[in-house]
Amino acid sequence: QNLSAFNTFGLVSHADAFVRIDDAAQLPALASLAATYPSLFVLGGGSNVVLPARVAGLVAHLATRGIRRLQDKEGCRIVEAAAGENWHDFVAFCTGQGWDGLENLALIPGTVGASPVQNIGAYGVELMDRFDGLTAYDLQARQWVEMDAAACRFAYRDSRFKAEPGRWIVASVRFRLPLAWQPVIDYPDLQRHPRLAASTPTARAIFDAVCEIRRNKLPDPAVIGNAGSFFKNPVVPARQYDELKALFPGLVAYPQPDGSWKLAAGWLIDQCGWKGRDLGRAGVHARQALVLVNRCGADAADILALADAIRKDVALRYGVQLEAEPIVVGGFRSA
Ligand code: EPU
Repeated sequence: QNLSAFNTFGLVSHADAFVRIDDAAQLPALASLAATYPSLFVLGGGSNVVLPARVAGLVAHLATRGIRRLQDKEGCRIVEAAAGENWHDFVAFCTGQGWDGLENLALIPGTVGASPVQNIGAYGVELMDRFDGLTAYDLQARQWVEMDAAACRFAYRDSRFKAEPGRWIVASVRFRLPLAWQPVIDYPDLQRHPRLAASTPTARAIFDAVCEIRRNKLPDPAVIGNAGSFFKNPVVPARQYDELKALFPGLVAYPQPDGSWKLAAGWLIDQCGWKGRDLGRAGVHARQALVLVNRCGADAADILALADAIRKDVALRYGVQLEAEPIVVGGFRSA
């Protein structure tokens, strides 16, 4: 099966075997089927993966659907969505219903099931801030499991699901949306947005502003293949930040609650001169240096060669190691 259409990078990739899951009740049977293959890889929207040219094993595409409101809890609406739901469509649906709280996360590519895996975040809100719980199938123990936020071990663009690849399949996710909604508009891009100048912007206005900002600086995967930010923003200790800031006064960084600093990787890469540059069939987006793009017919090797070249330059100039954000599949067991 050709997987080009199943990853937003549009990378050339073939799987030895492929199944589509339309009903979560099929997951236990999938576990049995997977045991007959060297590996199982579960693919949602394919928005955060670098797929190898050949995936030796079984790829399962999760295409389950369904959104429902459950009973309110502790001052919050609880909304549950199936893993296969498209993330942005889900956010748009909630915003349309007046179920506010997810609007800052508009237009993030991928599915609901992938959202907890890397604890997606944008414009001041992370998935973990709106998370109630999830239902997952444990491929190791062959049983259904309910997980709360603590069990998911969320961190910046990270979770237990990244640490235990191949063990869990997220089947549905429950969100906790405050009935007494408050706008989150501290992020610089939102603060200076004309749509949000009103004293109390609505969730719809934030949704529209976020869509506009993202459309301006991030490439649409339907037009040009990409996986969003390719690198995480690196977090460094205060001493290293002070040294860097003294050497490079323009350094963009955000203080963290524990005293460390999160550096804008896009700025580091941009300063190294990579913005808009190509290497082979891969390139760096012209309007956001954190995003690598598939120029034409790239495969995983093209993307990884470019990522390595960037990583080396940033390490040489700033002494900072960049870490990839997407899951790089090696053709072995992964989540
Ligand atoms: N910058 C540059 N040059 C660039 C890119 C950025 O100088 O080429 C500077 C900007 O001027 C700005 C700073 O770096 O001062 C930060 O840029 P931006 O606001 O675009 O955000 P980011 O830190 O680059 C992060 C997330 C994005 C998310 C935005 C908004 C990560 C790895 N990325 O990007 O997430 O949309 O903040 O919250 O944390 C994603 O994960 O796929 C993603 C797009």
